[in-house]
Amino acid sequence: MKGSIPESKIEEIRQRADIVGLISEYVALKKAGRNHVGSCPFHKEKTPSFTVNSEKQIFYCFGCGQGGNVYAFLMKINNMSFPEAVRHLAVKLGITLPRTFSDEEEKRRSGLKQELYRVNTVARDYFARQLFSDGGKNGREYLRKREIREEVVREFKLGYAPPAWRYLRDFFQRQGTALSLVEKSGLIISKEKGDYYDRFRGRLIFPIEDIQGNVVAFGGRIIGEGEPKYLNSPESPVYIKGNNLYGLSRSRDDIRKADGVIVVEGYFDFLSLWNAGIRNVVATLGTSLTTHHADLIKRYTKNVFTLFDPDQGGKKALERSISLFLGRNMHARVVVLPEGRDPDAFVRSSGRKALEDVLSAAQSAVDYYIDEMIGIKTTLEENLESLREAIPFMAQIDDPVERNLFIKRVSERLQIDQALLKKEVGKALSADEEPAASGAPRQERAAVDLVELSLIYMMVEKPTRIDQAREHRILDFFASRELRGLGQSLEALRQAHKKVSVADFIEGLDNGATKRKLLEYAFADKYTDEKISERVFVDTVMKVKARWYREKHKELKTKLIRAQERGDAELCNQLLKEKERLFNEQKAL
Ligand code: CTP
Ligand code: MN
Repeated sequence: MKGSIPESKIEEIRQRADIVGLISEYVALKKAGRNHVGSCPFHKEKTPSFTVNSEKQIFYCFGCGQGGNVYAFLMKINNMSFPEAVRHLAVKLGITLPRTFSDEEEKRRSGLKQELYRVNTVARDYFARQLFSDGGKNGREYLRKREIREEVVREFKLGYAPPAWRYLRDFFQRQGTALSLVEKSGLIISKEKGDYYDRFRGRLIFPIEDIQGNVVAFGGRIIGEGEPKYLNSPESPVYIKGNNLYGLSRSRDDIRKADGVIVVEGYFDFLSLWNAGIRNVVATLGTSLTTHHADLIKRYTKNVFTLFDPDQGGKKALERSISLFLGRNMHARVVVLPEGRDPDAFVRSSGRKALEDVLSAAQSAVDYYIDEMIGIKTTLEENLESLREAIPFMAQIDDPVERNLFIKRVSERLQIDQALLKKEVGKALSADEEPAASGAPRQERAAVDLVELSLIYMMVEKPTRIDQAREHRILDFFASRELRGLGQSLEALRQAHKKVSVADFIEGLDNGATKRKLLEYAFADKYTDEKISERVFVDTVMKVKARWYREKHKELKTKLIRAQERGDAELCNQLLKEKERLFNEQKAL
């Protein structure tokens, strides 16, 4: 991921960069004690909890948990890759990077993408020709049965893969295209002895385009009945599932003009609507809605009509799409088609006008949520139960107008005092912004072992402790494998006589609870007093060891009981000896 910019340069640039100066270009910072604080650019907040420490060259938001060094900041705020962030800073600081391979690497990578686009385009045209050749009769027949006009078929460049194993493979070979390249597109699959066979056979082909119109992948439907109904391209350097919306490259102007988009699930739903003259449509291709999808849509409109299968999605999916849209200040409506028909069937049997009527009568997603999820319960308990779930949900609606509307509706529905409900939601809101209850999901936070983590932090803060830790063999007593791994990498750094700093150390960490906690420790300046910190360190080491022994004893005890139940005297004996050994070992500490 670092490309080939030398490690030492990465460190040099990071050390020479002034994190406060850099972040000030994006966020208004005020000095507060040792730190600088401001409003977090990564989440909405009323009271500033975004904190920068120039001495340690790190930032951390106590509200949302984002944090890291200068690179992490640039990557996040400018949506840059790591090498881009390094280069960006290098240019700013006037540091010339040695002509690295990374430019080459980048060129190679974008070269590969271009080649894959070309391969896919060639394949698309090949499939399209097949559809309109003699061999494509089945495919044409099928499309006719599904009433898709030829004009639409041609516009979306639908195609047909003949029912054979090597057609496309041979075609590319005749063209002189390296089959190893074609394999990277997923169109052919390698088998033993270095040969390849076609992925799509005897299927109707739907080319999938990205927003610029590059062909990135394919979907293939079986003709008629059979399993699997759809076969799709695997992910590739040009295709990541959940990043594209089918049809958007061709429907975006209509979406903008209509200032609204109809989101459906399937290829045929999309094409049927288009076929009927409704063009402000996209299809998710059966996956649930992603943040990428929502961001893509938002470029063109804020108004979304979701035409999903109501029972398929279920409550979680609905909540998710509602919060995706509301979180972006978008307005979503839920369209439920009569008798559970899908959009394709509906528009073919009832026509465009009928669909437009259903659309204009569509309930806002918020109302739909209230109806379906809160409903009208009869008992007070049921009402309370619904409420408990609804409050955190309401608290995460970004737009205050939408939020208050939601509160009003819920209070009417459940016949509870609106002001009271507002107060409860307000509480949930401020709990979200408080440092202690903020950031990532709760379970994730609970999952870090804080005792062991504090040892790791103390080692980062004062590298001689890494030696101390080695003497105590403390890592052997760690329960958390992740933290033991971190400890080992600290030992390795130390042995290689590398400098250890928080800003460098956190660079390689995932944005998880561990990183957040380390940043919190760094900002808390927890262990600055030398004497106290020494004692805390030794105490913590003992604590970790004691806990390890306790666990071991517990384990042994369970084993012992089982062995006794089974009457396995020999094992009992062995276990008792082991117990004694452990006991003596512990006493010797
Ligand atoms: N899908 C898939 N693999 C499957 C089933 C579905 O990838 N085995 C995706 C396809 O992109 C499909 C979408 O999920 O278009 C929606 O599924 P479905 O409603 O079953 O497909 P339709 O497009 O409606 O196809 P048809 O009407 O021909 O059944
Ligand atoms: Mn369908």
